[in-house]
Amino acid sequence: MVLFNIFVGGLSIPCTSTHTNILDMLIEQSDSSDYHYECKQGHCGSCRMKVTSGQYEYISKPLAFLRDNEVLLCIAKPLSDISLER
Ligand code: FES
Repeated sequence: MVLFNIFVGGLSIPCTSTHTNILDMLIEQSDSSDYHYECKQGHCGSCRMKVTSGQYEYISKPLAFLRDNEVLLCIAKPLSDISLER
């Protein structure tokens, strides 16, 4: 069952209840080479992207530096449809 959609790079990635974070959804359902990541624990900041619309919550506290409207995909779960850009 699709709960939300993640819009990124012209794609619409469906989010289902079995997914745990935005990064895993994107890697599982599109080309993983399109996304940067290292720690997958909210430390390094390499998975950050800009949120242009939508809501999310963090699974754990982000420890990497973030600018306004940026999100760490590896520790964020969507709460609505979300649009992302680099
Ligand atoms: S992969 Fe390191 S903060 Fe997300």
